[in-house]
Amino acid sequence: MKNFYLTTAIDYANGAPHIGHAYEKILSDAIIRSRRLEGMACHFLTGLDEHGQKVQETADKQGVEPEQLCDGVAEKFQALCRNLNISNDDYIRTTQRRHTEVVGRILMDFHGRGEIYKAEYRGLYSVRAERFVLERDRIDGHWPEDFGEVVELCETNYFFRLSKYQDWLIDFLRSHEDFIFPDFRRKQVLEFLREPLNDLCISRPKARLRWGIELPFDGDYVTYVWFDALINYISAVGYGSEHFSDRWPADIQVIGKDILVPAHAVYWPIMLHAAGIPPPRKLLVHGWWLVRGGEKMSKSLGNVVNPLDYAGSYGADAFRYFVLREMVVGQDSNFTHELFLSHYTADLADDLGNLLSRLIHMLGRYCGGIIPAVELEETEEKNLRSLAETAISRVRIHCGSYEFSLALEAIFELVRETNRYVERRSPWKLAQNPAAGPALRSSLATAAEALRIGAALLIPVMPGTAEKIFRQLGADPAVRWLDLCWGTSLAGKKLGAGEVLFPKILEANHALPQMPA
Ligand code: ME8
Ligand code: MG
Repeated sequence: MKNFYLTTAIDYANGAPHIGHAYEKILSDAIIRSRRLEGMACHFLTGLDEHGQKVQETADKQGVEPEQLCDGVAEKFQALCRNLNISNDDYIRTTQRRHTEVVGRILMDFHGRGEIYKAEYRGLYSVRAERFVLERDRIDGHWPEDFGEVVELCETNYFFRLSKYQDWLIDFLRSHEDFIFPDFRRKQVLEFLREPLNDLCISRPKARLRWGIELPFDGDYVTYVWFDALINYISAVGYGSEHFSDRWPADIQVIGKDILVPAHAVYWPIMLHAAGIPPPRKLLVHGWWLVRGGEKMSKSLGNVVNPLDYAGSYGADAFRYFVLREMVVGQDSNFTHELFLSHYTADLADDLGNLLSRLIHMLGRYCGGIIPAVELEETEEKNLRSLAETAISRVRIHCGSYEFSLALEAIFELVRETNRYVERRSPWKLAQNPAAGPALRSSLATAAEALRIGAALLIPVMPGTAEKIFRQLGADPAVRWLDLCWGTSLAGKKLGAGEVLFPKILEANHALPQMPA
């Protein structure tokens, strides 16, 4: 049976993980966890992009072999996945044999069928972008900053016949309106395709670059890093084996906006088409995290947000909550420490954390640590139940369309309303009136059930927090959204040990370094 297969971009091995890498994995993880809760069999791939000039240069600068550099970087990125509670099923590294073999096979096939040819090319080459560029790439007469130094180069190389598939690609994009999300990005690609495509230079002479996959038909060359990197999505799931069709085509390929054109929207579908492999079903293109007043993050500006600092200081779930609450998929967002803290305090500590701790406290004090059954259902109870039921359907719909900020709004509306319900019922007052026993027990049981539903809906975004809530309520953690409904499963359950979900922050003596203002 075909799995729901989701991939992320594979991270460049020439730097340390930052918030962009973290966000992409968190978004992907929330999507895949929500699909698992819907009962789908899933496969989730992420990994590391290890070849190329920049990696070689970084290794040279550090005086180590590229292999060594990549091993260290792979450890850091895998630690990022662990620390952010990313539930990937596989981690591919482009130096692995399962990958290099498939790249070699595709190159051989293309070469044998004339999809790749050898030619001399004289042109302008961007050192930083590691590719030939054109005069038309200039913006207002200047080369984009991403290009770094642009030099004239004359070289014999191998070329992939990209241009011959331009019309096919345009037709494909026009007839597959769901191929790129959000849709305005698809229109940008079509806009880009109004200019004629050049064939793609897919080789680099070893004299210039040794850190790459050797061309199987010419040992003087290695493969261009993008041609190598894109293939990870199929090499990781056994392209060429009988299991391949259990995974491919990918259902969602998550990438950032900077690598849509030309890599994922032009090279990738054309490479697949030329190889006779169906295209992925969807490219999900997220925006960029910016810092301070909309600045681009960069090492030289010293404004890079280290996700591990945040996860370490406030917990992975607080960080996951913040990035999914703040960023609308497809748009850019600003990261500020102040905004992070205000969400942490208001939503997580005050609303959610407080609801759980007051419930646990009162259930211990008034009910001997056992969740009672509901005996009375009045309008107040019915309203809360119907809000919870609405939340279930809203969250399922929003997660299905990657609208995690809306899903979180629906969940926190339920959390806040449950707090207000508790205020209105005031169990501490009911406890003073011996005749109000049924009302007291019903109010605590009703609030606990609302919180159980809220926790079940939080799983994709905050899996660790949901687990802690289930444990404290004595609830069954094996939730499936398919059969999630308001019920009586908590009645008679014994509370687990209390634990504060989100400790209050005293910023003054806090370990996290302040972001530069
Ligand atoms: O591009 N905000 O690797 P990479 C949000 N190896 N997302 C960001 C970001 C930011 N500030 N900065 C980067 C590569 N990203 C290639 C991919 S795929 C076959 C090869 C995203 O480490 C970026 O858009 O530079 C990309 O999706 C991912 O992080 C890895 O970027
Ligand atoms: Mg990049």
